[in-house]
Amino acid sequence: MSAHGKAKSGNITLNRLARMKREGEKIAVLTAYDASFAGLLESAGVDVILVGDSLGNVVQGRKTTVPVTIDDMVYHTRAVTRGCARPLVMADLPFMTYATAQQTLDNAARLMREGEAHMVKLEAGMLHLDAIRALVGNGIPVCGHLGLTPQSVHKMGGYRVQGREQAAADRMLEEALEQQAAGIDLLVVECIPSELGRRISDALDIPVIGIGAGPHCDAQVLVLYDMIGVTRGHRPSFSKNFMDGQGQVEDAVRNFVSAVKSGSFPGLEHCF
Ligand code: KIV
Repeated sequence: MSAHGKAKSGNITLNRLARMKREGEKIAVLTAYDASFAGLLESAGVDVILVGDSLGNVVQGRKTTVPVTIDDMVYHTRAVTRGCARPLVMADLPFMTYATAQQTLDNAARLMREGEAHMVKLEAGMLHLDAIRALVGNGIPVCGHLGLTPQSVHKMGGYRVQGREQAAADRMLEEALEQQAAGIDLLVVECIPSELGRRISDALDIPVIGIGAGPHCDAQVLVLYDMIGVTRGHRPSFSKNFMDGQGQVEDAVRNFVSAVKSGSFPGLEHCF
């Protein structure tokens, strides 16, 4: 930021992301949880950094993201925003921190004021439209998240592909349009058939970020530790280890960015 608090030209803003969608330029997104990786991702050309509550799995060693707290998210968000300047940084509102509009505002304010995030993400369903409107009405940019929403893993009965049936796919598209009408600026869609990823990306004016959602989304996101082969145990089939054949993490991240920009990632083997 300059002395006058304006975004420096070259910094990634929501306007810039909207233009990238209009002009057909793919957007590269990765998660990060600390300053060192945030700086490395910036050097390698990543456009957007997500401080995901996936930190519960990959940093804290938990089985799900459910135990992650708002204090955890503020701590890691502040570390990330200290480490980079150019990428847009968005931070997850963790489980049960956005059940009411007021609670959502209080917790989003912490992520932005203490964590210095540029926007917040929530795994919103129809019940959260009021929370989205409250955020938007208070000038807080919002990213929605549909499809597989890991905070609801116990309700969903496991980590499964969502929206395979026609009715469920139509409902998800409807929800995406409702959230766009409520004012979200970005939408993550996770673990859905490629065809549904294409329908949602085509129908929405805002950029749609896919993870396991096929090659037609406007942006691709992966959990950083999956794409550099650090994750222990199961790695999702939609992910790819970009460290294969690379000596340096920064080269692996550069390869991810260029594979997203050229459309060569995700390949058929990463799609449903
Ligand atoms: O928490 C996270 O890392 C996420 C991505 C999987 C989209 O929400």
